[in-house]
Parts: sequence; structure tokens; C-alpha cells
Amino acid sequence: MIVCVCKRISDRDIARHAKAGLNFEDIQFETGVATQCGQCEGCARDVVTQCCPSHPVAALRRESNTGTISLSAAITGSKSWTTSLPLSQA
Ligand code: FES
Repeated sequence: MIVCVCKRISDRDIARHAKAGLNFEDIQFETGVATQCGQCEGCARDVVTQCCPSHPVAALRRESNTGTISLSAAITGSKSWTTSLPLSQA
């Protein structure tokens, strides 16, 4: 999926760099992501967070009382993936 329309950078491009150990600023320098209109920055940062080797399970959390595993608030609370309709109406 294309994350940055201005520079035609995909989530795979960002993930590949993040898994290689680059931080967001390094990826921005290498690819140009989020350097033009900036609309993609939140989404690009989310991809980096999800792929960062130091936070391999950043996208998941375990409920301490039930042991249930679910998406972290960083993902569910992200404004990067919102739609114009609530999910129940999409
Ligand atoms: S969409 Fe990424 S800088 Fe414009």
C-alpha cells in the first residue's frame, strides 16, 4: 500500500528500512517520505513503530486481568487510518 503519495513510498519500503534498524528520521532522509505535504507522517511513523526491532510487539498488548491479546492503543487510537464513516457504517 502506498503510504506517501507525494514520493510514492509504500508501507513495505518503510518497513524494510525500519527492520534494518533505521529510525523515522533516517527513513525520511533515505526515501523522502513525509517531506512534501506531510499528510503521510502519522501513518509512516505508525509503520516504523510496528516494525522497529526494539519494539517487535508494539502493535499488541495483553490484558492483565483476562490475558486477552489485542491491538495496542497506538494502533486503535491512530488517526492515520480513519475513514470518513464510522466502521459500523463503512
Ligand atoms: S503524502 Fe507524503 S509528503 Fe505528501
